[in-house]
Amino acid sequence: MHWRSLTALALAAPTNALIRFSCSQLVIDRIDPLVNPGLIPSPHLHQIIGGNSLNATMDPAKDMPGESTCTTCQFTEDTSNYWTAVLFFKARNGTYKRVPIRANVGSDGAEGGMTIYYMQNGLADYQQASKVTAFKPGFRMIIGDPLASTPEEAQRYRQVTYTCLQDMNTRFPETKNLPNKPCPAGIMANIRFPTCWDGKNLDTADHMSHMTYPESGTFDSKGPCPESHPVPVPQLMYETVWDTRQFNNPDDWPEDGTQPFIWSFGDQTGYGSHGDYLFGWKDNALQRTMDTPCYVNCPTLTTQSIAEQNKCKIDRIVDEDIDSWLTTIPGNPPMRKH
Ligand SMILES: *[C@@H]1O[C@H](CO)[C@@H](O)[C@H](O)[C@H]1NC(C)=O
Ligand SMILES: *[C@@H]1O[C@H](CO)[C@@H](O)[C@H](O)[C@H]1NC(C)=O
Repeated sequence: MHWRSLTALALAAPTNALIRFSCSQLVIDRIDPLVNPGLIPSPHLHQIIGGNSLNATMDPAKDMPGESTCTTCQFTEDTSNYWTAVLFFKARNGTYKRVPIRANVGSDGAEGGMTIYYMQNGLADYQQASKVTAFKPGFRMIIGDPLASTPEEAQRYRQVTYTCLQDMNTRFPETKNLPNKPCPAGIMANIRFPTCWDGKNLDTADHMSHMTYPESGTFDSKGPCPESHPVPVPQLMYETVWDTRQFNNPDDWPEDGTQPFIWSFGDQTGYGSHGDYLFGWKDNALQRTMDTPCYVNCPTLTTQSIAEQNKCKIDRIVDEDIDSWLTTIPGNPPMRKH
């Protein structure tokens, strides 16, 4: 073999890890351990995945994820909790129906839930050559603002987007607003967190200020972290596939030409999409994995079957109807329209 082909091969081999894995639904409940710890019910409904020690409090002084006895995530070392709001469909008669979540590509059989990524470089970068510091026990963060209702406000959270799925493999274009036409295979909500950490705070009052975006360029263009937040961490990304297929008949859509989907916090624009993260990896499993040369399939972790991850469930704390055609969205949030 010519040396140049060898070099090419060497360059193509991954340096560090990118992991992508499925997590099934743990619970859909009106709790919010980060923004409203201990408040039952919290203002809006969430869909939550990960370790079964989840409760409304998640006291940062205790290692609550460490108390989990199972996780809905593919890797048993990951008892983190990840959550987002829940999508509803508003019928012409004014009632609401919760939109189910369908399994993503590669997660066949998963009941609800999301696909999670941790990456050191852009998704298409097979080499993953950058070096990141894994999150630490007690680390939490949020990205996105439920009160954002204009493109400008949404732009502060540059990588929180939607993909209108023509089929399960559609990945672009991405929009900041909820798609304004029916999406044949569903709506994928993409949430990417910032990648520069201040290196000191595991959390901050707004759950955001300890994190920021690269100082110039983007995460994908390998932009450097600013001095205020000098520590590159993995880019955490959530994909949720909202199964809108049963709501795609144009005759069921609003007569004024707007789109019928609305977040559980009352946002019909889509600009308020947000995600929450509560770190809970066992020991140094995340750092060890990020430092291993592998792409998607990483042998350093223990993989459970999808049937096994589906079995990890907890009961809802708030006893309310979330599944019928409802006259109000749970918690009756103030509505924000186009
Ligand atoms: C959550 O769990 C912790 C630890 O098990 C417990 O101390 C706390 O009281 C629980 N909080 C709620 C609201 O159940
Ligand atoms: C409202 O519309 C939905 C969707 O068409 C239908 O399933 C539901 O029964 C209707 N509810 C009432 C009270 O008419």
